[in-house]
Order: sequence, then structure tokens, then C-alpha cells
Amino acid sequence: KVAPRVLSGIQPTADSFHLGNYLGALRQWVAMQDTHDAFYCVVDLHAITVEHDPATLRRRTKVAVAQLLAMGLDPDRATVFVQSHVPEHAELAWVLGCLTGFGEAGRMTQFKDKSSKQGTSGTTVGLFTYPILQAADILLYTPEPGEGERVLRVPVGEDQRQHLELTRTLAQRFNHRFGETFVLPEAHIPSGAAKITDLQEPDAKMSKSASSPQGIIDVLEEPGPMRKKIMRAVTDTGTEVVYDEEKKAGVTNLLRIYSALEGTPIPDLERRYEGSGYGQFKKDLAQIVVDTFTPIRERTLKLLDDEAHLDRLLAHGAERASRVAERTMETVRERVGF
Ligand code: ADP
Ligand code: NA
Repeated sequence: KVAPRVLSGIQPTADSFHLGNYLGALRQWVAMQDTHDAFYCVVDLHAITVEHDPATLRRRTKVAVAQLLAMGLDPDRATVFVQSHVPEHAELAWVLGCLTGFGEAGRMTQFKDKSSKQGTSGTTVGLFTYPILQAADILLYTPEPGEGERVLRVPVGEDQRQHLELTRTLAQRFNHRFGETFVLPEAHIPSGAAKITDLQEPDAKMSKSASSPQGIIDVLEEPGPMRKKIMRAVTDTGTEVVYDEEKKAGVTNLLRIYSALEGTPIPDLERRYEGSGYGQFKKDLAQIVVDTFTPIRERTLKLLDDEAHLDRLLAHGAERASRVAERTMETVRERVGF
């Protein structure tokens, strides 16, 4: 029996992933490698849609891969690869771009958000067509016809829903015009994914574009600063450790982190800290965060120490991904008339 296929990607646009990436996405990637035929991609082509420094991109791509492996992705159980190592991504994006209406692409709200922050002169055509490349990233891994149901799942947050809709539209359009080729991908809400907010601005999502580094915890951070950030996390003037998204956004966020990392239901945590104030709660949470990320940091550094080994793992991943991507592209080329 064939396991359902899952496809996901992450950009190498920071020196470290953060706690939000881990609890909202990457931890689920690791879990899904056992239940799915998983393809995980570090999307470096997407990272050049904004101005970038080549050496920095190259380093961040390696660091991203090392972190994924350090978190528990196993190159034999999952296909872990770098997008630019599989040139079919760009080729399929071109074909799909020729099936996309200009107005249709213009309706993508993420583009409107991002480009408005950069101004017209700083906005590239690459940023505009980014969702089409994303569609290619997904559709290339259409499961081949065989035994069982052909399923292609894509974990998506709210901000990516519109892009997945476009992907489905383009898949349907291609199939309609050139013959049944692509499976329509499904949005997948991974169980246990937690939305994490900024430690200093608990109403904003934790993000690498945070207004202050104090609001975000990096996976590769040293224990000292990690503890400090938790201890200084914004709470409120009360003393009770209770979950209340409206009135106690800060404490609620810390409870979510605690619960996700320790695997304890939130009501149990509320009971555990009844009458003990925020101090002990934060101290214990800081310890859990440090204990979670210290081994990941150490494994990441070790992987980065042996670049030849890391390159071999990436070549292995690229080869596995290429086997599927090349087959899909052969069909696409033939159907389009190349
Ligand atoms: P950022 O917001 O820091 O730019 P990305 O947009 O690159 O992060 O997100 C990469 C992945 O991490 C996505 O799957 C996204 O949904 C998830 N993610 C990012 N920030 C958070 C957060 N604060 N809480 C939960 N998941 C998050
Ligand atoms: Na984002």
C-alpha cells in the first residue's frame, strides 16, 4: 500500500529557524515522515525574489538543511532536498506561468502585502510570479499512477490558502487542456500545530521580521539568551497562569509553547501553577525550551562541521526528488508539444 504523499517547503531566509517555525510546521514535518511519503524542500529559488547576498544564501541553505536533519528528519525516510538542485521546478513554473492570467496572479494578497512594503521599484517580477513557482513545487510531486489512491497533501497556514487554491486551479486547467496529468493537491492541517506569537508583542505572530529580536526565539540560540527572553516575555499585571486569548495574550502564548513542547494539556498546566505566579512558570518553561533546542543546536553544528557529508546527503535527496520530478516533466513536455 502506498503512503499518501506530502510536500512542503521552507525558505532559507534567516540564520536560524525560530520557535514558531518549529511548533507551527517543522515538528509536524518530522512526525509526517512516518505516515507519509514526504518531500521536504529548502526553497532557495523563492529566496531570491528579494535582493539577496549570494554567500549568505548559500550558507543559510546549508544551515537550514542541517537544522531539519538535526530536528529528526531522516534522509532515508523522507526526501530532503534543495529546490535549485532540481531544475524541473523552474521549468514547470514557466509552463504554468503561461497558463496563468495576469489578473489572476495580480489577485494574490500575499504579493500585494509584500510588494506594498517594498515599493514598486523594489518589487520584482519574481515576487509577482512566486505563487506559480509554488504551484510547480507542489505539482511536480504528483504521485504517479499505481496502486491505491493518489493523494498529494500540502500543509498550509491561513496565509498560504490562496496559493494552494491557485495551484489547484492551474492543475485543473492543465489537465483540461492537455489531458489528465496532475493530482489536485489537498490542504492538510497537521495535528498539533501551534500558532506562536511574539514574546514582546503577544498579539503579533512570532516572525523572522519581528520588530525586536527579544520577541523571537531562534532554534540555534544559546541557552543564556533563550532563558532571558522567556523570563522577559511580556505578560500582564495579573499573577494567574490561565489561558485567555483576549485578556492574557502573553501568558496564553507561553502556555501554548509549554503545552506543545512538554505534551501536557493546558488545563493541567493551569492547575500545576495555581497560586504560584509567573516567575516559576517562566523559569520552568525556559528550562523546557533550552532542553528542547540544545540537542538540536549541537546536532546542527556537528552536521555543519562535515560539509562533505552534508553535501552527500543533499545529493541523495536531490536524486530521490529528481526521480519523481523528471518523470512528471517528461509527461508535461510531451503533452505541451515540446
Ligand atoms: P516567518 O513568518 O518567520 O517569515 P515563514 O513565513 O518563513 O516564517 O514560515 C515558515 C513556516 O513556519 C510556515 O509553515 C509557517 O506557517 C510557520 N510559521 C511561521 N511563523 C509561525 C508562528 N509564529 N507560529 C506558527 N507557525 C509559524
Ligand atoms: Na511569513
